Amino acid sequence: MSKDTKKTAVISSEELQRQEQFSQKVSSAVSARYSSKPLACVITYGCQQNVADSEKIKGMLELMGYDFTSDRLEAQLIIFNTCAVREHAEDRVFGNVGSLKSYKREHPDTIIALCGCMMQQKHIADKIKKSYPFVDLVFGTHVIHQLPELLYRAMTGRRRVFEIPDMDGAIAEGIPVKRDNDAKAWLPIMYGCNNFCTYCIVPYVRGRERSREKADIIKEFKELVNQGYKEITLLGQNVNSYGKDLTPNVSFASLLRELNDIDGDFRIRFMTSHPKDCTFELIEVMAQCEKVAQHLHLPFQSGSDRVLKAMNRHYTRGQYLKLINYAKELMGDELSITSDIIVGFPGETYEDFKETLSLVEEVKATSLFTFIYSPRKGTPAAEMPDPISAEEKSKWFKELTDLQEQISASQMALHKGKVFKCYVYGKGKLGDNYVAARNDGNLIIEFEGDESLIGTFQKVKVIEPLTFVMRGEMLKEKEI
Ligand code: 5AD
Ligand code: SF4
Repeated sequence: MSKDTKKTAVISSEELQRQEQFSQKVSSAVSARYSSKPLACVITYGCQQNVADSEKIKGMLELMGYDFTSDRLEAQLIIFNTCAVREHAEDRVFGNVGSLKSYKREHPDTIIALCGCMMQQKHIADKIKKSYPFVDLVFGTHVIHQLPELLYRAMTGRRRVFEIPDMDGAIAEGIPVKRDNDAKAWLPIMYGCNNFCTYCIVPYVRGRERSREKADIIKEFKELVNQGYKEITLLGQNVNSYGKDLTPNVSFASLLRELNDIDGDFRIRFMTSHPKDCTFELIEVMAQCEKVAQHLHLPFQSGSDRVLKAMNRHYTRGQYLKLINYAKELMGDELSITSDIIVGFPGETYEDFKETLSLVEEVKATSLFTFIYSPRKGTPAAEMPDPISAEEKSKWFKELTDLQEQISASQMALHKGKVFKCYVYGKGKLGDNYVAARNDGNLIIEFEGDESLIGTFQKVKVIEPLTFVMRGEMLKEKEI
């Protein structure tokens, strides 16, 4: 696979029309085959990008005449949208697909399909081909928009369908989306990754960075606001390098500013940021834009400069801290920081790991996403000597999570008396008359209030931080 940056390409309208024709063909085939609407079960693993892809898959399936179920055993079509980022996620997919073997024998008309990052790896697709003969359809990350054609082939042809082109996918605009939530929406602004962190499979399975045109993003964003979505999360593997491949260039900070200026009552979130591309300007824009959540998900992965270099991360612990300290300076108590950390990268020593612990103490994140290193075939780190045992890594991991638990609890305690802008999303659990809301940092605050508040933003004062939730009190005047 080449590391060259390519020009962003868009799927042609002719190709999209061709897919629409296949969509109608599937729709006819489906109504001839089933007496009532057939059910599809889409099972999603991994990150928000996969969740967003599954929402497109469901959007296309709905147009083809499918309804949805979460029970795979009542579905006529089962799709696993897979994740390749760690071995554990892959094992779960193999286990769950494997358990359908005898079911498929008894229900030969049920279509079983696999897609997503795992399928984009040749050794996995080969294994499915050879050892999972009851899987009917396998497609890669670059051809999701071709689902109508692929499904039609799987339904009507005699042969199993494998469509996994090894290329950087073009962007398909205008694919229907069936969103899982009425208030929260995922909005991909770019696809792929150019960074080649040495442990990571993503650049190999999602291709090079491709940014959507700014006008397309703004159009979709406005539609979401008009439809009443209150939390819109901009997605990309590295949103800070959004727009570098567009002509003319567009910076992520300027995109945020433009979205913030759109009329309406909503909150903008974004993920994931890469410290090497996160600019001081972006932090200033976050601080200045009232609709942008004061939440920075900025993975540092390790606190050791030696390990960061081996990971090919292109920043030092000192540079990371400069960004965090600037963000804290501008946003103060309002700011919530979250991060990803890998424990037990090949060659990491306990001394290196202690640097990670000390960085965790300095950063004081709201919460952390912590992972034990998992070797990924084809990545440089998988070839590096890795002498530390799994048991030892598990001990380090526990030390890290124990430390963060204490920090999260003390951070929660600091919130007593603070006022947060919160989105009220549903009924509370602390009592019958409580509603539940989330602040910028995604922390849950419950307070006494009428159910009519659900779907609105309110200012809430924290009265009592509990373990996983805070009890609060709504301020009278609505200031948002
Ligand atoms: N092993 C463990 N964790 C990984 N991540 C990515 N690749 C690996 C791997 N091989 C983690 C990183 C990344 C998050 C999404 O997953 O922390 O930020
Ligand atoms: Fe993987 Fe690094 Fe790209 Fe994130 S920035 S997707 S960790 S290669």
